[in-house]
Amino acid sequence: MNRPGRNDSCWCGSGRKYKKCHLASDDAGTTSPPAPTFGRAPSASRRNAHLILDDEGQEGMRAAGRFNAQVMDFIRPQVKAGMTTDAIDKLVDTYTRDHGHIPATLGYHGFTKSCCTSINEVVCHGIPGADVLQDGDIVNIDLTSIVDGWFGDQSETLLVGEVDAVSRKLVTDTFESMHLGIEAIRPGGRILDIGRAIQTYAHSHGYSVVREYQGHGIGRKFHQDPGVPHFPDFEMGQFIVEAGMCFTIEPMINLGTYRTKLDRHDGWTVRTADGKRSAQFEHTILMTESGPEILTLTEHGPQRGHTF
Ligand code: MF3
Ligand code: CO
Ligand code: CO
Repeated sequence: MNRPGRNDSCWCGSGRKYKKCHLASDDAGTTSPPAPTFGRAPSASRRNAHLILDDEGQEGMRAAGRFNAQVMDFIRPQVKAGMTTDAIDKLVDTYTRDHGHIPATLGYHGFTKSCCTSINEVVCHGIPGADVLQDGDIVNIDLTSIVDGWFGDQSETLLVGEVDAVSRKLVTDTFESMHLGIEAIRPGGRILDIGRAIQTYAHSHGYSVVREYQGHGIGRKFHQDPGVPHFPDFEMGQFIVEAGMCFTIEPMINLGTYRTKLDRHDGWTVRTADGKRSAQFEHTILMTESGPEILTLTEHGPQRGHTF
């Protein structure tokens, strides 16, 4: 691999100097070098032809996204200081079943609840339980529904009562980074374009980007190809997105370190290694000939450009 000079831009496309970015991890041998398959992308995408949905599949995904967004519209105004995350879970579970659909996380690899609730320094996969939301918290609610076999997946970070300015800005900037990621990808583009847009924005505002958890292809399965890293990962990033493919974009952006710690006791809860706050937003996207279509959006949710 040809390494850049210390003061040249990093090979990863972050826009940072090499010495401030991948130099140390390259020295340690922990980063993957750019894939040698550069320029051989068409064959890679032909191998993924099975991920291209026909009209019926696209309608299935639209319906799943629409319903999931409707659950979010139902939950969003009810999240308040003083309620437990279990109460949120009950609302999600009951609403979903009352409409004849299935909460996807319940029983997923042993997960015991119908949504994820991740408070403050919890990055993702928080398990609803006895935790009581406090004034000043930020809480990510991650909802996934199965509608006629198709999956819709989205999350929002909500403010509980009066939230400090730094956390509010983190939430706003994370929301913006998700939209920049969505706008960065076109049919024929690489997954890499998404992570590059997100990371460039996050770093320019002094945040870090979680690397161990990522977006994913979605359809009749919850998690499938392609993996969607929120940083420019040169190996995974070579995947070519084509019209008819569905995937999520769900950046987790941290005030401090990008490193995370998995809860040893419950095996699910992911926290920032330094205990500083983390925010996340997620949408399910269908790539169309004319660009990305957000499937998990209604007019009631926060729109592009929203400040929290
Ligand atoms: N909804 C999460 C995602 O965006 C996955 C949650 S899986 C669970 O991919 F098992 F933790 F619920
Ligand atoms: Co997801
Ligand atoms: Co999700």
